Amino acid sequence: MKWELKTKRVYIDATQPDEASLIEAASLLQQGALVAFPTETVYGLGANALDGAACAKIFQVKGRPQDNPLIVHVADQKAAEGLSAVWPEIAERCAQKFWPGPLTLVLPKGPALPDEVTAGLNTVGIRIPSHPVALALLRKAGVPVAAPSANLSGKPSPTSGSHVWQDLQGEIPLLLDAGTCAVGLESTVLDLSGSVPTILRPGGISREQLEDVLGEVRIDRPLEGRAPKAPGMKYRHYAPKGEMILLQGSREKILQRMEDEISKAHRRLKKVGILCTLESAPFLHEQLPDLLFVLGSEERPEEVASNLFEGLRLCDSQEMDIILAEAIEEGGVGMAVMNRLEKAAGHRLIRV
Ligand code: TXA
Ligand code: MG
Repeated sequence: MKWELKTKRVYIDATQPDEASLIEAASLLQQGALVAFPTETVYGLGANALDGAACAKIFQVKGRPQDNPLIVHVADQKAAEGLSAVWPEIAERCAQKFWPGPLTLVLPKGPALPDEVTAGLNTVGIRIPSHPVALALLRKAGVPVAAPSANLSGKPSPTSGSHVWQDLQGEIPLLLDAGTCAVGLESTVLDLSGSVPTILRPGGISREQLEDVLGEVRIDRPLEGRAPKAPGMKYRHYAPKGEMILLQGSREKILQRMEDEISKAHRRLKKVGILCTLESAPFLHEQLPDLLFVLGSEERPEEVASNLFEGLRLCDSQEMDIILAEAIEEGGVGMAVMNRLEKAAGHRLIRV
């Protein structure tokens, strides 16, 4: 029989976090235990970043590959500077402009961090989150907090306390539940350890936003056979159980293809889930899917970003055999949305 830990789920006000709950969470972190907590991007599964044994638990609970380093969360820039070996002027500009917020900076690591955090790399990813609960918890704990997304490996990142509960109930002592996360996609991981700043993972801060402040910004798009620089990017994350296909093209053609696929699937008694924009949803007339999830308006990619993981999780919980998703424009946070959609679809993108 598996010994189950009882997870305490504490509902906490996102804007005025309750002091007693923060103290409880902070002291668990200080004792080397894990705490799931909200950030503006997704929920994090936190451990004291200076405690190698505590960080090792994160890998165990998530079923996370050992070679995938953890992002370290801090409350202020001084703490960030203390964890990195150097603090270049470009890091200063990023911090001034985007922190607190959904940007992780990869810098040469300082001596304080155990190997469990950096998975043996000589760099470390650091960010200051903007969620008031995350910031208050970091201040209270007084230690840097290593935290990956608080999902089981292979599941979409959790954008609500309920998602964390589904994945980690019985595995961790405490979940601070502050409802849904505003951004809903993970932070942008920006490598500042080379000569040109390079996006290793697109996320909540767009390439355009970064270029406004930094000038040229590259994107790490590894060619066939070369591993991405962010070890986490090589895994087929966010994979729903059903077979997922991403459709790109004119609205008319996408809708036509969706209806064709729905009738084909229904003849084989398969359940079909559709993830589409607000603009497309009203035009599915002839063949209705088993699940229709509106991601948001194509005019507002931030809205699509914030709903995406909920939509993917719903397709799983409603046991969709086939998932058809509508592609969106790559501008702004649309790039991060498309990155997650392409991964979830295992790169099955069809141009219609
Ligand atoms: O928004 C976020 O970033 C959330 C919240 C909780 O802060 N965290 C998150 O962590 O998404 P995780 O572990 O799910 O994803 C971290 C990504 C992985 O792809 C990892 O490989 C990459 O960042 N990463 C971390 N440290 C790195 C480093 N030193 N060099 C290259 N990539 C790194
Ligand atoms: Mg993750």
